[in-house]
Amino acid sequence: MNLESRRYHIVTFGCQMNKADSERMAGVLEAMGYEWAEQPDDAKIVLYNTCTIRDNAEQKVYSYLGRQAKRKQQEPDLTLVVAGCVAQQEGEALLRRVPELDLVMGPQHANRLQELLEQVFDGNQVVATEPINIVEDITKPRRDSAVTAWVNVIYGCNERCTYCVVPNVRGIEQSRTPEAIRAEMETLSRQGFKEVTLLGQNIDAYGRDLPGSTVEGRHQHTLTDLLYFVHDVPGIERIRFATSHPRYFTERLIRACAELPKVCEHFHIPFQSGDNEILKAMSRGYTQERYRRIIEMVRSYMPDASISADAIVGFPGETDAQFEATLQLVEDLEFDLLNTAAYSPRPNTPAALWGNQLSEEVKADRLQQLNRLVNQKAAGRSQRYLGRTEEVLVEDTNHKDPTQVMGRTRGNRLTFFAGEIEQLRGQLVPVKITEIRPFSLTGMPLMPALL
Ligand code: SAH
Ligand code: SF4
Ligand code: F3S
Repeated sequence: MNLESRRYHIVTFGCQMNKADSERMAGVLEAMGYEWAEQPDDAKIVLYNTCTIRDNAEQKVYSYLGRQAKRKQQEPDLTLVVAGCVAQQEGEALLRRVPELDLVMGPQHANRLQELLEQVFDGNQVVATEPINIVEDITKPRRDSAVTAWVNVIYGCNERCTYCVVPNVRGIEQSRTPEAIRAEMETLSRQGFKEVTLLGQNIDAYGRDLPGSTVEGRHQHTLTDLLYFVHDVPGIERIRFATSHPRYFTERLIRACAELPKVCEHFHIPFQSGDNEILKAMSRGYTQERYRRIIEMVRSYMPDASISADAIVGFPGETDAQFEATLQLVEDLEFDLLNTAAYSPRPNTPAALWGNQLSEEVKADRLQQLNRLVNQKAAGRSQRYLGRTEEVLVEDTNHKDPTQVMGRTRGNRLTFFAGEIEQLRGQLVPVKITEIRPFSLTGMPLMPALL
């Protein structure tokens, strides 16, 4: 066999969940003896781990796929795989659209990649999209970073936000046990990782599907309990978690974050809209007043906490005044980062069928207005860092300037400073911030050994 025949390439679209799944699938392929190829054209297995959160995410997948499908016509021994959320949504229909595909597999099947590929090598065209109990992770993921790692804690989502495909494609909530999560963190620590991000689409729902006792009316497996349970894994210096749903963000959780020194003061809590009627139509289960109270409460415990969120503009029926309410919320709350999107109607979601859809022009115009405000606010928010000393966990070199290293503050701000990566990777370095930009910082290390 020539070298090319044992190489693979993975293209990952979408959210952190997909990134974590890709790392696990890469781990499976490496355990099977495959090696990473930088270019898809040099690989004999090409896997697309796909996203369908908005229509443009899905269309991107088809354009990439088209190119490899053509290549397959010349190279029949090329194995083409579509994994992730488009695979789950389209299933068999994907095979009709791209008959060159060998394997279509939903996100719940990521850990089964080897078994599914073996069926392909036996000459089958395979579709794996049936709901399953996610098999506990036995593979060693090939992690992109040597310093920070994702750890899944809950798969799926039981919410039914009226715009969202995630519950359709990721299935019902399945929590891993606290023991399995802690064991993975201990392994990561032995491998030298310093930071862990606990992952779930709706991470506050963690544990509600686990059998457990109820004490004083409270279930014993909540995210808060999990944080206490994993907090003291030696060697892991920082813990983050995402994504939080405002409906379940409790004071008890906020108190735990304030109390536990390793939990970073950074929270991703999407609000989606600043208008109560729209929030109701979205089935989000909270009001904008409740959202504001949560942010206030976070800041009363951790005055400097950095808060990021997601928002959608142009939801069906959104009036000018309702959109203004979203602008007002952004004006008032001082987010460090806001992911914004124009509403995109998705298959098999309730809102897509409503008659009151807005025009693309209105959506694009509102998105632009919101983005302008976001940039302005983020620049203002960065000001507070100037002259301060921040703890930076060094991850890598600054790819734009190899004399510098890059890392993140506890608040998750990207930070650059002069230094040697070999000497600094994985270190927590106090850095005096000398330059600010809306979404990143530059500073000077205050480590005696470096000066
Ligand atoms: N579980 C998270 C979000 C997951 S999807 C939560 O509950 O907030 C990531 C983001 O994509 C969402 O927060 C939302 O802002 C956006 N999104 C989801 N569906 C969308 C759609 N149909 N159109 C536009 N944006 C969408
Ligand atoms: Fe989608 Fe809502 Fe679940 Fe988030 S909580 S993944 S927006 S259904
Ligand atoms: Fe996209 Fe699936 Fe994540 S649709 S945002 S990759 S859960």
